[in-house]
Amino acid sequence: MQTVRVMGALRNAVAGLRDGGAPVALVPTMGALHAGHLALVAAALERGARVVASIFVNPAQFGPDEDLARYPRRPAEDAALLADHGCDLLWMPDAETMYPAGFATGISMHGVSEGLDGAARPGHFDGVATVVAKLFNQVRPDLAMFGEKDFQQLAVIRRMAADLDLAVEIVGVAIRRDADGLALSSRNAYLSTDERARAVALPRALEAARRAILAGRADALDMARATLAAAGFATDYVALVDAASLAEPIPGRPRRLLAAARIGTTRLIDNIAIED
Ligand code: PAF
Repeated sequence: MQTVRVMGALRNAVAGLRDGGAPVALVPTMGALHAGHLALVAAALERGARVVASIFVNPAQFGPDEDLARYPRRPAEDAALLADHGCDLLWMPDAETMYPAGFATGISMHGVSEGLDGAARPGHFDGVATVVAKLFNQVRPDLAMFGEKDFQQLAVIRRMAADLDLAVEIVGVAIRRDADGLALSSRNAYLSTDERARAVALPRALEAARRAILAGRADALDMARATLAAAGFATDYVALVDAASLAEPIPGRPRRLLAAARIGTTRLIDNIAIED
């Protein structure tokens, strides 16, 4: 696996990957890789793609009180993992390459980006959309892989790609979970042993609420909120939404149950499909 850090080298390396005729897949990440990220690489390889992973901790998607400074950074371990799992090229731009002096352009999104995490983290999805649009323009992938754990992010990227006529297929990849059900996340590293033990209440609350929704119980979301509170979480939201627009559910259309909650200083998100 080749690692490149400047635009010229990236363009040459991607051109080299394209020579064989296979599609090029981008796996955008902020590093601190876990099995969820490696599942994105595996899904790209399953489609016969040459795989470009990017690692860039994007300051534009962190709020002033968020965890940019302490976000885990382990580039050497990440590069070794990616190489071991069949990644062809690692794109590791620095902040100056991504946001050079005088940088003044950004994507401003509405609708799907506004509620849920968008309400709890103002500006977050504009920062995500801007950096992902830049990564798409830099790598020019045929497809791009995103985990369904960040379900709203996936919806935002799909919307952006459609709205801006970006010629890239957006592929959502199923959530990877620990044996007890906790969704894998780079932020799980922040949890103390006690918090990690209690964090399993999040997927359990969602699964119990899923069953309650399918059984027609009107108190399903309140039950989930109570389960989270009992485990010591401070809940941002538990919401049942239309799986495509993330607005109010529409009868006959796929639904998704999403939650975000804080345990100690760590904010966790998770979601689950509601299949009728
Ligand atoms: O999901 C992430 O790791 C980030 O939000 C992404 C898509 C790499 C953009 O910085």
